[in-house]
Amino acid sequence: MINIAIDGPAGAGKSTLSRLLASKLSYIYVDTGALYRAVGLKFSQKGFDTSLEGDLDAVLSDTSVDIRFINGEQRVFLDGEDVSDNIRTPLASMMASAVSAKPSVRAFLLDMQRNLAKNNNVVMDGRDIGTVVLPDAKVKIFLTADVEVRANRRLKELLEKGQQVSFDEVLEDMKKRDYNDSHRPIAPLKQADDAVLADTTKLSFDQSLELLINIVKDGIKA
Ligand code: DC
Repeated sequence: MINIAIDGPAGAGKSTLSRLLASKLSYIYVDTGALYRAVGLKFSQKGFDTSLEGDLDAVLSDTSVDIRFINGEQRVFLDGEDVSDNIRTPLASMMASAVSAKPSVRAFLLDMQRNLAKNNNVVMDGRDIGTVVLPDAKVKIFLTADVEVRANRRLKELLEKGQQVSFDEVLEDMKKRDYNDSHRPIAPLKQADDAVLADTTKLSFDQSLELLINIVKDGIKA
């Protein structure tokens, strides 16, 4: 199986670009952030806030997360319910970032991610795919852009979905998440030594896609 790992900070365009890339290659696209978001949602349903004080293992042992592909699109199920849409809120983002720093949560989700990659050609995106989940991926890309540019892109997405947020709020959240995701002791966000850096700060969406396609073509040939 051919595995393509795409890591990078929030708002770098990973999910949209990875989805398109996967569809061009006829691979499946696995958005691992959605798994952390589903776990975060569970904790928030159980009354936890981002400080996550309490018995995490008790919650995890009573949690099921799984991914199904419906018409080629990934849907995420939490305890049997499709939560793919409910996990896209600013609160779910912060809860996902908080739970993702917990070793027990990362362990809980690891095998599922590896099994998907073992049984399918995948484009998998996240924070630690090239470093931890799929260290032998055929192609690894670290996708990033300046934080203001990422915040602007995310703001546009949220406004299009009808959510009431300001640029400053989105920028603050993004800086907080960047910090949390790259400073946690376990599986922090960082570029794998053998990953290709793709900085899309000055690129349009189409240029970014073209860049990724070229990196993948070169990587698969190598
Ligand atoms: O990609 P995203 O914004 O949907 O991810 C939500 C959070 O999940 C993010 O703040 C960090 C965490 N995450 C992670 O720790 N490891 C991954 N492979 C994917 C996401």
